[in-house]
Amino acid sequence: MTFEAAQNPSGDTKSLYGGTSARNRRVTVHDIAAAKRRGEKWPMLTAYDAMTASVFDEAGIPVMLVGDSMGNVHLGYETTVPVTLDEMTILSAAVVRGTKRALVVGDLPFGSYQEGPVQALRSATRLVKDAGVGAVKLEGGERSLPQTELLVQAGIPVMSHLGLTPQSVNTLGYRVQGRGDEAAHRLLHDAKSAQAAGAFAVVLELVPAEVAAEITRSLEIPTIGIGAGPGTDAQVLVYTDMVGLTGGKVPRFTKQYANLRQTLGDAAKAFADEVAGGTFPQEEHTFH
Ligand code: KIV
Repeated sequence: MTFEAAQNPSGDTKSLYGGTSARNRRVTVHDIAAAKRRGEKWPMLTAYDAMTASVFDEAGIPVMLVGDSMGNVHLGYETTVPVTLDEMTILSAAVVRGTKRALVVGDLPFGSYQEGPVQALRSATRLVKDAGVGAVKLEGGERSLPQTELLVQAGIPVMSHLGLTPQSVNTLGYRVQGRGDEAAHRLLHDAKSAQAAGAFAVVLELVPAEVAAEITRSLEIPTIGIGAGPGTDAQVLVYTDMVGLTGGKVPRFTKQYANLRQTLGDAAKAFADEVAGGTFPQEEHTFH
């Protein structure tokens, strides 16, 4: 078997996003490796429920992240820190059920892997067996390498998350990471170490564009940027920011492609006004 065939056992050369004929099977980490070799750019979105996930799946989003951002956007926590493995398992299973094609990646929540590789393997195994995810994501460079190595040895694909790692908000705060030569070198070193440990992709969050582009050029695995400029292989956004559902201030790096908060609010008011005014339901909504 050639190296190319070994990396891509299905022989599938379709692009991850776009093109005329979508694959009728789930995207795998082999497809993602092939996209990097082809120099293809691709999108990733977060998803937290079956219905939204099915919409994104039909739109052709190839990779969906059940991010622990669910803590802020879905569960009403102030940070991602309180998210539990039980919560992650329930929502990841819903996203898997809502999708036919996307690779679903489940985030390992804070406290589910920091104790060491064995705890990480136990937590990741739960997400793979009970929720059915195809890969897991964990935060941290050097400190998470033993976890990455053991998961990969056990057959669980790992997405690494570097730069701003929200689970460390209490030590890092929310600010750009990797500024200055020393910090940039450390980030590059962490990214290369994650690759050496077997990670199939690296999320770079809130990193200067030049640093993210340099890391992208240096790695054989894809980088997925969020607030990391245009030079990464893929881009991810928290979907509620992307569709304008998030209330209050959203980060500058996000782009709002719709205004669903306005649309939902308007629909709720129109319904409420009709109920209050006695104009809903009408004859066509009524059984006799
Ligand atoms: O939890 C999340 O949504 C994430 C993305 C922002 C990468 O980690």
